[in-house]
Amino acid sequence: MKAIVYTEYGPPDVLQLKEVEEPTPKDNEVLVKVHAASVNYPDWACVRGKPFMVRLMGSGLLKPKHKILGADIAGRVEAVGRNVKQFQPGDEVFGDKGAWGFGGFAEYVSVPESTLALKPANISFEEAAAVPTAAVVALQGLRDKGQIQPGQKVLINGASGGIGTFAVQIAKSFGAEVTGVCSTRNLDMVRSIGADQVIDYTQEDFTKNEQRYDLILAAAGYRSIFDYKRALSPKGIYVTTGGSLAQTFQAMLLGPWISMTGSKKMGNLMQRHNQKDLVFMKELLEAGKVRPVIDRRYPLSEVAEALRYYGEGHSQGKVVITM
Ligand SMILES: NC(=O)c1ccc[n+]([C@@H]2O[C@H](COP(=O)([O-])OP(=O)(O)OC[C@H]3O[C@@H](n4cnc5c(N)ncnc54)[C@H](OP(=O)(O)O)[C@@H]3O)[C@@H](O)[C@H]2O)c1
Repeated sequence: MKAIVYTEYGPPDVLQLKEVEEPTPKDNEVLVKVHAASVNYPDWACVRGKPFMVRLMGSGLLKPKHKILGADIAGRVEAVGRNVKQFQPGDEVFGDKGAWGFGGFAEYVSVPESTLALKPANISFEEAAAVPTAAVVALQGLRDKGQIQPGQKVLINGASGGIGTFAVQIAKSFGAEVTGVCSTRNLDMVRSIGADQVIDYTQEDFTKNEQRYDLILAAAGYRSIFDYKRALSPKGIYVTTGGSLAQTFQAMLLGPWISMTGSKKMGNLMQRHNQKDLVFMKELLEAGKVRPVIDRRYPLSEVAEALRYYGEGHSQGKVVITM
């Protein structure tokens, strides 16, 4: 089969299209013929081996441990291992292999059945591949860490990116009043996916106006934790899903201290990979409450180009790989 392979860390040029052996599913695994995949931050971090923390977290200290990147996939079940109970050949599925060695930038991938769910019937493979990581991170940030409630004032910073476009729609589905922060060119798009208000971060500093928010989800940090603290209502919650090392350490170290010493809660989210949340997203998608926003599509042979574009940090929704 064809796959995008790399054997050393570096810029996306280290990725090569190669002919490799098709995987054989283990007893608990499902072999999926990949119809589409999508690009996420872990792919960008793991190709470069930067920040160094990703090497310590399992991507390989000196050389990449997993030769084929790609966490999010959508496709059709080709074969199943003998202990697989939930899927059968022919099923259309989507899922996230990020915690199980990646492998999605390939024509076939073998994945534990617990990483998959049936693809929502009303969306394409490309749309389905856009969902798993970004939508589940947004869901866990808002619902689990953020304890979102109907009627709350919720602000999404980075509302126009992969995680942000899902976060705006998921927050609306929970009945929140949503403000999306993005740059000028994305204002209409963020409004079109349901934001009640939009703030152009190039024109206005939301941490310095009078408005206070019950919940702030920052797709990446973008600002200091103290700026966010100022913008929270007295019992508000701040959750960041990523950002620079400094912003991440602020959230990990200062967040718990601020939360213990005052009424505001601040911290960061580490995604917990699980099938339950993927099924939750399937239901939201089928109910028409969420629709993936796809920025660009690249063929498998151009994964390097897709990663380079993603790495610029200005995607408008998701970057998808087509087979
Ligand atoms: N917690 C987890 O498990 C997990 C998993 C995956 C990813 N992540 C994190 O999530 C972060 C976001 O990922 P993503 O895939 O959503 O990124 P993305 O698709 O690249 O989106 C980035 C968006 O941020 C906007 N942006 C850039 N600078 C901004 C600023 N100063 N203020 C507000 N918005 C700004 C960009 O819009 P403009 O073009 O308008 O600037 C762009 O639309 C990553 O940095 C990563 O650390 C975390």
